[in-house]
Amino acid sequence: MDETLVVANGIGRDFPDGNAGRITVLRDVDCAISSGARIALVGPSGSGKSTLLHILGGLDRPTSGRIEWPSLGSFEELRPRQIGFVFQSPSLFPALTAGQNVGLPMILAGERDAADRTSALLLDAFGLAELADKLPEELSGGQAQRIAMARALAIGPKLILADEPTGQLDSTTAQFFFDTVLNRLENTGIALVVATHDDAIAARMATRWTMDHGWLRSGPYRSKAT
Ligand SMILES: Nc1ncnc2c1ncn2[C@@H]1O[C@H](COP(=O)(O)OP(=O)(O)O)[C@@H](O)[C@H]1O
Ligand SMILES: [Mg+2]
Repeated sequence: MDETLVVANGIGRDFPDGNAGRITVLRDVDCAISSGARIALVGPSGSGKSTLLHILGGLDRPTSGRIEWPSLGSFEELRPRQIGFVFQSPSLFPALTAGQNVGLPMILAGERDAADRTSALLLDAFGLAELADKLPEELSGGQAQRIAMARALAIGPKLILADEPTGQLDSTTAQFFFDTVLNRLENTGIALVVATHDDAIAARMATRWTMDHGWLRSGPYRSKAT
């Protein structure tokens, strides 16, 4: 049965513009995410994708409107248990190995015993097992992005929010990696929202949300040609 994980109504977000004014980044955004959703969040750079993902993940608060997580428990419980977040910028802990980074959410959630095994299984599934003992500074940007996605998956959250997770991968590697992610999520009910500029990745998702100057338009995925 589908559960509603997130509901946002009339969300707005503005920031100081550094000049005594405000810059409006999100405008009256309505959206909802159900279990099992596959949503591509597309739109030009600066249109508000990262800002929206941060608000959906409880990492930032809207300046207007309402957001609720009806079936994810209290606000404090959202991360890492219920929501896995893959940041656009590098986010691995520099002092931990890749393998330890993947296991960290499980340790934080009190699942220490399973952390190492789950981490090893995930790295293996992504073809990244040989990176397990490397420090983030030894990884390429694309390797670090895949490690960060494995970390988001490790705990089995109900929702994964991924901000341009293939932005530093060539298209063949991106496809293989994304196939692995989708295979792992199949029949789990885990919802996935991916901000992406990669049309081939976006086309794999059932739903497309398009950001345009802070406005959100949503609908089933349609390629530009049809
Ligand atoms: N903390 C902030 N302070 C001021 N402006 C911000 C802040 N975060 C984002 N912005 C601005 O909001 C707009 C949208 O940014 P962002 O959500 O990162 O877009 P996208 O992810 O689509 O590239 C940009 O113009 C950006 O400069
Ligand atoms: Mg962004």
